[in-house]
Amino acid sequence: MSDILQKIQDLRKRIEHYDYEYHVLDRPSISDIEYDKLLNELVELEEKHPEYKTNDSPTMRVGGEVLEGFKKVDHDIPMLSLGNAFNADDLIAFDNRLKKIVSDFTYMVEAKIDGLAASLKYEEGYLVRAATRGNGTTGEDITHNVRTIKSVPLHLKQPLTIEVRGEIFMPKAAFMKLNEARNENGDALFKNPRNAAAGTIRQLDSKIAAQRDLDMFIYAMSEADSEAEITHEEALKKLSDLGFKTNPVSMKATTIDAVITQAKTIENDRHDYPYDIDGVVVKVNERTLYETIGYTAKSPKWATAYKFKAEEVMSVIKDIFFQVGRTGQVTPVAVMEPVEVAGSTVSRATLHNEKYVLDKDIRIHDSVSIKKAGDIIPEVVGVIKERRDGTQVPFKMIENCPKCETPLQRSQSELEHFCPNPECPAKRLETMIHFASREAMNIEGLGTKIMELYYNEGYLKSIPDIYRLNDHKDALMNRSGFGKKSIEKLLLNIEKSKENSLENLLFGLGIRFVGKKVSKVLAMHFKDMFAIVESQVDDLLALDDIGEKIAYSVTTYFSNDDNVAIINDLNTMGVNMKYKGKAPSQGVFSGKTIVLTGSLSSMSRKEAKEKIEALGGKVTGSVSKNTDYLCAGEDPGSKYDKAQSLGVAIIDEDTLRDMLDE
Ligand code: IVH
Repeated sequence: MSDILQKIQDLRKRIEHYDYEYHVLDRPSISDIEYDKLLNELVELEEKHPEYKTNDSPTMRVGGEVLEGFKKVDHDIPMLSLGNAFNADDLIAFDNRLKKIVSDFTYMVEAKIDGLAASLKYEEGYLVRAATRGNGTTGEDITHNVRTIKSVPLHLKQPLTIEVRGEIFMPKAAFMKLNEARNENGDALFKNPRNAAAGTIRQLDSKIAAQRDLDMFIYAMSEADSEAEITHEEALKKLSDLGFKTNPVSMKATTIDAVITQAKTIENDRHDYPYDIDGVVVKVNERTLYETIGYTAKSPKWATAYKFKAEEVMSVIKDIFFQVGRTGQVTPVAVMEPVEVAGSTVSRATLHNEKYVLDKDIRIHDSVSIKKAGDIIPEVVGVIKERRDGTQVPFKMIENCPKCETPLQRSQSELEHFCPNPECPAKRLETMIHFASREAMNIEGLGTKIMELYYNEGYLKSIPDIYRLNDHKDALMNRSGFGKKSIEKLLLNIEKSKENSLENLLFGLGIRFVGKKVSKVLAMHFKDMFAIVESQVDDLLALDDIGEKIAYSVTTYFSNDDNVAIINDLNTMGVNMKYKGKAPSQGVFSGKTIVLTGSLSSMSRKEAKEKIEALGGKVTGSVSKNTDYLCAGEDPGSKYDKAQSLGVAIIDEDTLRDMLDE
């Protein structure tokens, strides 16, 4: 090895060590001046000898890589979110749900960092990719910016191939400093540290991130990578040993009462932390139980987020208007004097329905207290009646649709009002907005504003028109307000959305009661849109998770020729109609290999195979050391012996059925 290379490597080792002390351990052992000297020396050497530059050199932290755009990243394992608990009772209910499924478990209680979730991939110890959560299935490649976060190791203390997840955030002090500087420069201020972190991670030029002091706590490693770490506590320890920064606010609890006490303590101290936290995450500690406890479509059932009580503030209602949703539901919405609540400015709040407004007696010009439900959705808590001065106008529900004038109908519960007109422009617009939304077809750039515009200009009348926008390319590019590049990008994103799997398309149609989970169930079972179009109520009722309400809603939707025409149109234009099964399902069998042997009495082998696969498992023909379960029916034969000799878990048909029912 040349002397120069030796020198470079020594410097890197030393700087890495100092970085780790400073940014992970929070225990620097040399002065900033000494540190800068070493770093400058390394920068100079690397500049003189570019042949020795590497991706994991600490000099990478200073940024410099500028991207043209963000690459999409498909997550191997979906990035889920968490269910919520808002009080002690919710936590007790969470505990009771768990106790029905498992016994003998403990909890870990952690601060819920208010930042952005991200996934980091290491190959043989080297950071190779960082991605945002995105919609959970697909995120964006942010490796260039994450490399600038000094607490994120560019290589690990062991040469592991591993995916870890955590929260990128901006410490409060860094946020204040950043906003002060922006203020001086006359730049717009960030609302809160989370927005600042999000705005920073979404920069194409990594120099910007390098200057902004982002930080990251790692809170999980992918299950496949941590066989030896049977508890979450041990997994955190291992992450820390590998060089990651883990959050010290993390404690074990054996009972839900202890969890509640700890959660309250963290809540009391929330403002003392140097970073924003918006709740407490409660996780089952024993990871071996995770598969058994299971998952919903959105979140693991073995964890929950206890969200801190929302701040309440006061404002005045300036007006109440009526919004028509995609199902035709008409909702009163309050327009308020803008106020800051829990970190962002709020000027609107849904008033839900007529009864809600009348029960609370909310009037225009009333002073009201508002909070953000779950820290997200602005809500009027109550009216401050002492402040009434006679100018208040009592509420009156409208009788006709605000968009198309059709007389409104009441829902069965009498609570909601609906516009029954299928041609109602408001419904059509909302339907298209839903279709393009992140959780549905995920067409980036086709948001509410641009939809409204194209709708008003006649380019978009119904869903298939989205795929005809390309025919108006020149006209769209020549109208003012949008750059050519952004239109081109939008059209490209529209084109790309044709490749989505069936469940996205199905969800995007906005059929009543067909949410994300039901869409997935239907897509997985029928595999093809036309099979769903043709399905009968009984076919649907035969599926788990599908009840009468959904079955009738689906068949009613497709008994309407206009809706079938939409499908045909989309099909003709090349929109994928098939289930691609890309995202592995999160279920009891997720990632597991199962061998079936002997005859089953309650179902055919084929049926069992389909069901196991639907829950994320793989069914193979022969037993090996990679087999997780052997399901032994009647007269099992030699596979049984082999499984026994290899120590593979053997389950009977009843157990298999129980697991499938799970
Ligand atoms: S565990 C399956 N632990 O909260 C999701 N999440 O709604 C497992 N978060 O998207 C997440 N601090 O961005 C976990 N200590 C913590 C967390 C945490 C913040 C965020 C995360 C996630 C969201 C859940």
